[in-house]
Amino acid sequence: MRKNIVAGNWKMNNDLAQTQELIADLKKQVSADPAATIIVAPTYTNLYPAFKALKDTPISVAAQNMHQNANGAFTGEISAAMLKSVGVETVILGHSERRAYFKESNELLAEKVNTALENDMTVIFCFGEELEDRKADKHFDLVQSQLKESLYHLSKESWKNIILAYEPVWAIGTGETASPEQAQEMHAFIRKSVADAYGSEIAEEVSILYGGSCKPGNAKEIFANKDVDGGLIGGASLKAEDFLAIVNSF
Ligand code: 13P
Repeated sequence: MRKNIVAGNWKMNNDLAQTQELIADLKKQVSADPAATIIVAPTYTNLYPAFKALKDTPISVAAQNMHQNANGAFTGEISAAMLKSVGVETVILGHSERRAYFKESNELLAEKVNTALENDMTVIFCFGEELEDRKADKHFDLVQSQLKESLYHLSKESWKNIILAYEPVWAIGTGETASPEQAQEMHAFIRKSVADAYGSEIAEEVSILYGGSCKPGNAKEIFANKDVDGGLIGGASLKAEDFLAIVNSF
């Protein structure tokens, strides 16, 4: 059975004290048996304190990025083994901000996905079109090539450690969310694409999250769609009350 998942991408926000405060609020307010699997992704410097503080709670910790190599002369980078050594088993890869500002290509992301999976990590793989692609009616083709070039070399077995996150770039941080119909249309397309590549059993098992201006006020109608299995939340994940309201939208 595929899982409902709500993940908070904290991006480059919150120093140590602010991270500890947000985690304390989350711990106070989270139910013992939440409606969805909950993941939060603090900055690298706050991963270990977050892992320690959330250890015996229903909330797990993910990293926002990772390098594809095991170690070596890659100044400023962090490896899979380093993440695992501080308790982090999940990594977000392919976020549109990494693609846009750090020029991460589909090919590079394929390498990062391989490295994460070789290290028994779970990958939250992000992808999605820009506004121009949608206006030119190229959004389905673009999403198809992002999936194909970064993921479709994987074995069937690997898919149990993949979570997909469709994030239309025009909806990220803009306050403009995809309509429930637009989200369902794309999520159904994604599931069909996975089914065509790997068969319907794997396609039915993979969780497909929506990301882009998801808030307590719109989460319920987005999550109500049959192919939307949760959300990857940016801005609204920085306030415990809002984030947990989104978790409770199932
Ligand atoms: P917002 O929820 O702030 O639009 O960000 C979405 C996102 O990029 C999550 O990864």
